[in-house]
Amino acid sequence: MKKVLSILLALVFTMSAVTGCLAAGAGGTELTLSMQIGNPVMTVNGIESEIDPGRGTAPVIQNDRTLVPVRAIIEAMGGSVEWNDETQTAFLEYNGDTITLTIGSTVALLNGEANTLDSALVLVSDRTMLPIRFIAEGFGFDVKWTDSTQTVVITGGGASEPEAPAPETGTNGHNVLVVYFSMPETEDPNDMTVEEANSTVVIDGEVLGNTQYMAYVIAENMNADIFRIEPEVPYPTEHETLVDLASAEKADAARPAIRGQIENLDDYSVIFLGYPNWWGDMPMILYTFLEQYDLSGKTIVPFNTHGGSGFSNTISTIRALEPGADVADGLSISRNSIQDAEQQIVDWVNSLEF
Ligand SMILES: Cc1cc2nc3c(=O)[nH]c(=O)nc-3n(C[C@H](O)[C@H](O)[C@H](O)COP(=O)(O)O)c2cc1C
Repeated sequence: MKKVLSILLALVFTMSAVTGCLAAGAGGTELTLSMQIGNPVMTVNGIESEIDPGRGTAPVIQNDRTLVPVRAIIEAMGGSVEWNDETQTAFLEYNGDTITLTIGSTVALLNGEANTLDSALVLVSDRTMLPIRFIAEGFGFDVKWTDSTQTVVITGGGASEPEAPAPETGTNGHNVLVVYFSMPETEDPNDMTVEEANSTVVIDGEVLGNTQYMAYVIAENMNADIFRIEPEVPYPTEHETLVDLASAEKADAARPAIRGQIENLDDYSVIFLGYPNWWGDMPMILYTFLEQYDLSGKTIVPFNTHGGSGFSNTISTIRALEPGADVADGLSISRNSIQDAEQQIVDWVNSLEF
């Protein structure tokens, strides 16, 4: 299956789609886009966002093909997508190069030149399956499939400037970014230890960290982009080891390095900032974040989850670290009630009136 997968990586194209628009953040800079089987969230240059907003579409493996939505990828590249329903043809454009693909045909036109694909394009339900390797490589990008993590990573681009002016708002057309750190202590929804259950919310079999769950609910309701703060050196998931490491980091006033960065911070005026309470404080990596980014002129809205300590003094700490920002009082939810807190989070988000 591995070999077939690597050859037949394919894209899903929404049939109702019309002309796409240029992506934010990708044109003119190197693109790194990753998608994972079963995960409706993709990462584009370190920023997480829904692949198919509101529809929960996630890459799937079907008939030995990895299927991912074409629109999200092409737009992240800075290209455009047109669909002609009458001729059942998809027309993709990036940086002056064009690819034309037709349902049922193994012939793809790259800048008008015919290329034969491994298999014909197929129509499944309201989706068209398109071969990602041919498209991405045709447009000069690299495609890597990692079987162990079931992840597709597309890299490249950046040689040309986008034709359209840079957008004034975030990648979803909004100016809200949700930044969060979260440490779910397992990925397996079955047979959890007490500590694992304490640090996770399970939604439809998918395991999320408590703060990660809050971040997702906020982002969905604000139509916001997401940036997950992750340490360059991953933290252990075993509870005692994690607790000891966090304790040592606090004692040392450590500043663990953050993997990736926010490329387009200027696009956002509201930053929701989420973290668990660790040792009556923010995890030290939040200090790294707040010292790394100057959030002056922005509104910071903290949110956290905890085992009884609430925010502790973290709101004052954020205000001290970001004196030029307007820091709201935020929302703190106990890990004991987080599983049923969706409505509470939605009501709170709505009350903020951004
Ligand atoms: C290293 C560590 C230290 C913690 N310290 C505290 C604490 O001082 N006070 C508290 O209320 N909860 C504490 N907790 C519990 C977490 O705040 C709580 O489980 C949180 O919901 C975890 O969120 P997450 O799944 O998003 O990482 C701690 C958890 C860990 C792993």
